[in-house]
Amino acid sequence: MLTEEERQEIEAEVPHYAQRRAISIDALKIIQRRRGWVSDESLNDLAEFLEMTPDELDGVATFYNLIFRKPVGKHVILLCDSVSCWIMGYERLRERLCSRLSVNLGETTADQRFTLLPIVCLGTCDHAPALMIDDELYRDLDPAKLDGILAKYQ
Ligand code: FES
Repeated sequence: MLTEEERQEIEAEVPHYAQRRAISIDALKIIQRRRGWVSDESLNDLAEFLEMTPDELDGVATFYNLIFRKPVGKHVILLCDSVSCWIMGYERLRERLCSRLSVNLGETTADQRFTLLPIVCLGTCDHAPALMIDDELYRDLDPAKLDGILAKYQ
């Protein structure tokens, strides 16, 4: 069930859009920010609130790859695997991250601190390779820089 605070925050977005369903991405982000991810139960409740079917809303959530439909760690690492980053050292970054965190892509560390996910181009190809942790973008990376970056999130 949506909380009163969630309802109010979502409702505040409604006047900015012509249709109620048009706020679906913003509403999903609100739920995710408050709950960490969007469970089936949250999605069903939100769909009802937005006057959509759960399938319609799930289609939006699945298409928009920054909506997490499974639990994630405290911090989410989005590692760009598109062409510029691939050419500029993606594979070495992936190996270092997987080794340091003892996870594979798509997994969460045992202490629930990090989830490592692949993502398409982060829009900073001229500074590849790049990754994002939560809302922070890191560019011009190499494996040695990763250790210092991860340490900021310990
Ligand atoms: S390919 Fe990685 S930022 Fe564009």
